[in-house]
Amino acid sequence: MKILVTGKNGQLGRSIQKLISNYDHHKFTLVGREEFDLSSPESISKYFDTHSHFDVIINCAAYTAVDRAEEEADLAGEINHLAVKQLTEFANSQNAKLIHISTDYVFDGQNESLYLESDNPNPINVYGKTKLLGEKSVLETMPNNAMIIRTSWVYSEFGNNFVKTMLKLGYEKNEINVVSDQIGSPTYASDLAKAILHIISNNNFNKKSFPTEIFHFSNMGETSWSMFTMKIFEIANLPCRVVSITSDQYPTHALRPKNTTLSKEKIRSHFKLLIPTWQQSLKECLKEII
Ligand SMILES: NC(=O)c1ccc[n+]([C@@H]2O[C@H](COP(=O)([O-])OP(=O)(O)OC[C@H]3O[C@@H](n4cnc5c(N)ncnc54)[C@H](OP(=O)(O)O)[C@@H]3O)[C@@H](O)[C@H]2O)c1
Repeated sequence: MKILVTGKNGQLGRSIQKLISNYDHHKFTLVGREEFDLSSPESISKYFDTHSHFDVIINCAAYTAVDRAEEEADLAGEINHLAVKQLTEFANSQNAKLIHISTDYVFDGQNESLYLESDNPNPINVYGKTKLLGEKSVLETMPNNAMIIRTSWVYSEFGNNFVKTMLKLGYEKNEINVVSDQIGSPTYASDLAKAILHIISNNNFNKKSFPTEIFHFSNMGETSWSMFTMKIFEIANLPCRVVSITSDQYPTHALRPKNTTLSKEKIRSHFKLLIPTWQQSLKECLKEII
């Protein structure tokens, strides 16, 4: 299959790139904003005018700066919504399948239990709102042959992320304050990349046509940012003390949902995936980083 992957310099894009040598029966093309700028409809059209006939598009690119999005709502909307619509139109015209990545931040975080794919979204920040509009364009424009995978708390050995920031602080400080009243499931980007590559080889995905659906993916288990940090320091053997604080004590530009733990049962059973716990995967990632 000819597979186009957007967002080649992001955490997920780089994690996919790391694995594609194991899939050399497919031809992967990875693009970054230089050649494929999602904030410019002309850039996207120009790319597709000269490169076509993809069988699968994996859209890993996104506007992901959650706080900055509050001030850059238009730009976030262009990338997370309008460009996604354009991608779906191109995918339809080419008969290509689409895997689009979305977020737990489409939920308001008020659920007491795990979020199912069928739960009602109700985003509480601009980033979540633009990602939800992106999901809606996929569902409306591509009723068949697309998958929306919502993920959460993504980290990796690449780029900037929570794990790398905490490690740096852990080396520099004796004590740090971390929010304890936001609960979710961390996702090692490498596990999501493996899951995506597994899915594109699965019979359920390779059917001539399948209805578009939403799936949730993160590592198994749940934690808070403060417990996550304690585990990072334990594995990295850092003596830094973690003081648990509330979200009110750490105001941010964008509101954050309180509990966005995603249920992974649907993707696990549909594609027979084995998903590691967040603790196992954190160890793997820290081995790569340290
Ligand atoms: N990170 C998280 O915690 C998290 C949580 C839930 C869901 N997600 C979703 O998971 C997916 C992958 O996230 P990630 O963590 O890999 O994000 P990331 O590391 O921030 O990467 C996003 C990529 O998108 C690219 N991009 C941004 N604006 C662009 C534009 N105008 N044109 C083309 N490319 C552009 C960036 O390019 P540059 O490298 O040039 O900036 C970057 O490579 C996204 O859909 C995100 O919404 C992420």
